[in-house]
Amino acid sequence: MSEDKKEKSSPRLSVEEVKSLDNVDILELCETTRVAILAHEGFNWLTPPPEKTLESFWKGVFIIPERTLIIARMDGQIAGCCQLVQPPKNNEAGSFRGSIETFFLAPWARGHNLAKAMLQKAEDVAHEKGCRTLECHMASDQQAAIAICEWIGMDRWGIKERYARINGVFVPGYYYSKNLD
Ligand SMILES: CC(C)(COP(=O)(O)OP(=O)(O)OC[C@H]1O[C@@H](n2cnc3c(N)ncnc32)[C@H](O)[C@@H]1OP(=O)(O)O)[C@@H](O)C(=O)NCCC(=O)NCCS
Repeated sequence: MSEDKKEKSSPRLSVEEVKSLDNVDILELCETTRVAILAHEGFNWLTPPPEKTLESFWKGVFIIPERTLIIARMDGQIAGCCQLVQPPKNNEAGSFRGSIETFFLAPWARGHNLAKAMLQKAEDVAHEKGCRTLECHMASDQQAAIAICEWIGMDRWGIKERYARINGVFVPGYYYSKNLD
């Protein structure tokens, strides 16, 4: 294959913090979420909720000041996201924490280092916002997420035996943390 063709076949990748999304983006994010849920990797959802519920879920992120949404795109299309979540204002003692939530990529966008780029961006935003620790948790069978958290320097500090219950079976979860100072 010529160098020119190789270049053309490499997808365009981007990761950005977003403060709003237009309707097309919201629809793409909902579709990506649905694909992840159907692959049994939909952060707490086991079956896709109705379209309106998903739309409200993502639109709701922008009205909560403690939530920062980071979006990954492949060739312009939304491929996944993660949120950096800070504690509510009344939690003054815990205000140093930043937590990673809804961290996922559609299966078609994996293996391009987009997840690493999202987590790195989340850590940068956490620094900017004055967080002193970055935390993340996941089911113990999410090997890619575990590898990425360890890649960024997080330590596993705990295991919760009853992290999730799927088809009547309890699944353990791992808790990771990294000091940012
Ligand atoms: C977590 C997620 C976003 C990672 O996507 P991704 O970056 O495209 O993942 P990759 O396939 O590139 O793998 C990332 C790393 O994990 C490693 N990895 C992937 N699958 C693995 C496995 N089964 N066992 C061990 N390591 C694995 C890869 O080798 C890679 O590390 P490397 O770059 O050092 O080689 C994606 O897997 C996902 O959406 N999973 C479902 C939702 C989820 O688990 N979210 C996390 C909750 S915190």
